[in-house]
Amino acid sequence: MSQERSDTLVLFGATGDLAHKKIFPALYAMVAKGTLNEPVIGVAFDPWDLAKLQARARDGIVNAIGSIDDKIFARLASLLRYVSGDYRAPATFEKLKAALGSAERPLHYLAVPPAMFEVVVQGLEQSGAAQGARLMVEKPFGHDLQSARWLNRVLHLVFDEKSIFRIDHYLGKEAIQNLLYFRFANSFLEPIWNRNYVESVQITMAEDFGVEGRGRFYDEVGCIRDVIENHLLNILLLLAMEPPVGRSADDLIDEKVQVLRAIRTLTRDDVVRGQFDGYLNEPGVAPNSPVETFAAVRFFVDTWRWQDVPFFIRAGKSLPVHATEVIVRLKRPPLDVFDPIKPGDCNHVRFRIDPQVAISIGARRKAPGDDMVGEQVELTALDDSKGDMPPYERLIGDAMNGNGQLFTRQDASELAWRIVGPVLGDTTPPPIYAPKTWGPAEAMAGFGPPNGWINPAT
Ligand code: BG6
Repeated sequence: MSQERSDTLVLFGATGDLAHKKIFPALYAMVAKGTLNEPVIGVAFDPWDLAKLQARARDGIVNAIGSIDDKIFARLASLLRYVSGDYRAPATFEKLKAALGSAERPLHYLAVPPAMFEVVVQGLEQSGAAQGARLMVEKPFGHDLQSARWLNRVLHLVFDEKSIFRIDHYLGKEAIQNLLYFRFANSFLEPIWNRNYVESVQITMAEDFGVEGRGRFYDEVGCIRDVIENHLLNILLLLAMEPPVGRSADDLIDEKVQVLRAIRTLTRDDVVRGQFDGYLNEPGVAPNSPVETFAAVRFFVDTWRWQDVPFFIRAGKSLPVHATEVIVRLKRPPLDVFDPIKPGDCNHVRFRIDPQVAISIGARRKAPGDDMVGEQVELTALDDSKGDMPPYERLIGDAMNGNGQLFTRQDASELAWRIVGPVLGDTTPPPIYAPKTWGPAEAMAGFGPPNGWINPAT
C-alpha cells in the first residue's frame, strides 16, 4: 500500500452511537481546518435517507461542540452520501460500489461491533470495494487471544497488514503524544529512567460516572477488557519502551512490541477486582453479573531496564474523580541529611493525561523558616489544551494518509491478549465498593505500589 491519501471515507455504522458522538464531530473539525475534502459514504442498516443522516450528524456535532458554523456544516453535508442495507446482503455492497464511483483508494472504517467485521470484509471483497482500499477497525479487537488471532486471519484474507488500522483512541490523545515526546526529547530523564532510580510506576484511570446506558456492552467486557488491555497498557508501553531507532511507524511499534514480549503473563494474584454498588441495576446488566467495574493490576516488565519495578494500573467506573494520570515514583535519597522524609514523599514525575494535559516534577524544597525542614512541591507544565486535536480527528486523518504510527499492529494486538488472558472471565463475584470511593477498600488493602497509591486530584 502506498502512502497516497485515501480518496473516499466509507463509514460503516454511520447511524450508530460512536459516529454520532465522536466521528461526525471529528469530520466536522477536519472540514473546518480544510483537511477533509473527500466524499464520506455512510453505510448502515437503518432505512434512512441522506437528509436524516445529515440531521443526525448535525445533532452529534452540536452535542459535542456546543455550537455549529452553518457554512462549515454545509461543506460536510455536501460530502456526505448514505447507503442503507443489511451487511449480509450483496446488494448493499453493490450500492456501495456504485456510490464509490471512480474512487480508487477508499478507507473503509468499521465502526461496528467486531461480530460484523468478517461479514463486512467479505462483502467488500466480493463487491470489489476492497480493491486498493485501507481498512480501519474499532475496538474491541477480539475478546481474548484466540478471537484476536481469528479476527486477524479474517482481515488478512482481504487486506494486508499495512492497509489495516486498528484503533485505540487513547493513542490519538494529545497527552499521550506528549508523553512519548517528553521521554525522548529530553536527556535529563534517561539516566534515571530505569530500575536503579524508579521505585514504581502507577497509572490511574478514574471515571466518576457509571456505565451510562452501555450496560449490555460493558457486561460483556468488564474493566480489564474495556480499558486496561488496550488504553492503559499502551500508556505502560510508552513509559517502558526503548527509544525507537527511526521515525517510521514500524520503528516505534517495534519498540512497543519488545516491551509487550517482556511483560509477564498475569496471574490472579496480580489483580484486585471490584464492582460498584448499583451496577446490577443498570439496564442490560445480567442478574448477579460477576463483571468487574474496577480493577487494579500489577505488571512486571522483565527487561534489563525494568526488572523488579512494579507497574500498577488501576481503573474503574463510579470513582471519586474523572482523571487519568501516571506517577513514576523515584527511590528515596540514600540518607536523610536534613529532616526525615516520609516514605512516599520523594521525587516523582506526574503525567496528567485527562482532563488536562500536564507534566509535573515532584520534589522537596526547604520550607521557609529557621529550620532545615522540607516540604513537597510540584513544578508543573500545564497545557491549557488550546489547539488540542481530538483523538478521532487525528486518527482518521492518519489512516487516510496511510500513517500507521498510532495504530495497533497485529503482533501487538495478540501479545496484549496473551498478557491478560489468565485473568479474564473470572466468575467469582467481585467485592462491592460504594460509588465515589477508590474501589473495594478491604480487597485493596496492601495491594499497590510500595508507599501507596496517589489519587489524582480534581
Ligand atoms: C472507551 C471505553 O474505550 O474509553 C469507555 O469503552 C471509556 O468505557 C472511554 O469511558 C474513555 O475514553 P475517554 O477518551 O472518554 O477518556
